[in-house]
Amino acid sequence: MLELKQISAFYGNIQALDRISIQIPEGSIVTLLGANGAGKSSTLKVISQLLPIKSGTMVYKNEDISNLEPNEIVKRRIIHCPENRQVFPKLTVEENLIIGSYLRRDKDQIKKDLSDIFSYFPILKERLKQYASTLSGGEQQMLAIGRALMGNPKVLLLDEPSLGLAPIIVNQIFEIIQEINRKGTSILLVEQNANLALRIADYGYILENGRIGLEGRAEFLRNNDEISKYYLGGKSHAANLY
Ligand SMILES: Nc1ncnc2c1ncn2[C@@H]1O[C@H](COP(=O)(O)OP(=O)(O)OP(=O)(O)O)[C@@H](O)[C@H]1O
Ligand SMILES: [Mg+2]
Repeated sequence: MLELKQISAFYGNIQALDRISIQIPEGSIVTLLGANGAGKSSTLKVISQLLPIKSGTMVYKNEDISNLEPNEIVKRRIIHCPENRQVFPKLTVEENLIIGSYLRRDKDQIKKDLSDIFSYFPILKERLKQYASTLSGGEQQMLAIGRALMGNPKVLLLDEPSLGLAPIIVNQIFEIIQEINRKGTSILLVEQNANLALRIADYGYILENGRIGLEGRAEFLRNNDEISKYYLGGKSHAANLY
């Protein structure tokens, strides 16, 4: 279990997170929702230590990890798949994937993980020697997730995996997220598409201006008219997606 307790974080003078508390129980899918600028990506950055914690604590499996370096977070198999894909454009698909395993020495397991990734995303195998910059948006997203999986995550931090992708690709990616979760990886999923995220999540947090405005079981957030009206873009939007 990963737990954030009363975490605050800043970019210079700008406060991005204000006393955020979040729990990611082992084996669960937790979603983090909210408008642009609410602090979703910042929360993931704090967990992977790309944004320093100003105050509060972060605990993973009973260890205080608030002051660890980013590579120590990766060693604990907490892996961040960043916003906007961010694959290395001038490296091949294969090189991008290998980078995801840079701290690992378990060669046999790495091979197994690679074959799992090819079974999730067969297109990556076909494109192995191609530069990442030549992939389509959806393929780059698959590569970004594949690269994160090469870190053999126990906790996977996914930042807007659906962004800019056609619905059919989004559905594919969401099925794979569920499959990854079924195999034992806990997931913190950041999404703009609240209805989609709440369909696969166990629990949700809604961020507003760097604070948790609301939280609850996904089922509760999904079925509450007021909540969907005020926080999630209204009923009609939801109806379109079901
Ligand atoms: N590198 C940065 N320097 C200064 N301010 C930043 C930086 N990154 C983010 N911020 C600010 O911190 C706040 C939270 O940003 P964050 O990226 O966490 O939002 P978000 O919820 O992920 O939004 P989006 O849905 O647009 O991705 C915003 O006000 C943003 O302008
Ligand atoms: Mg963001």
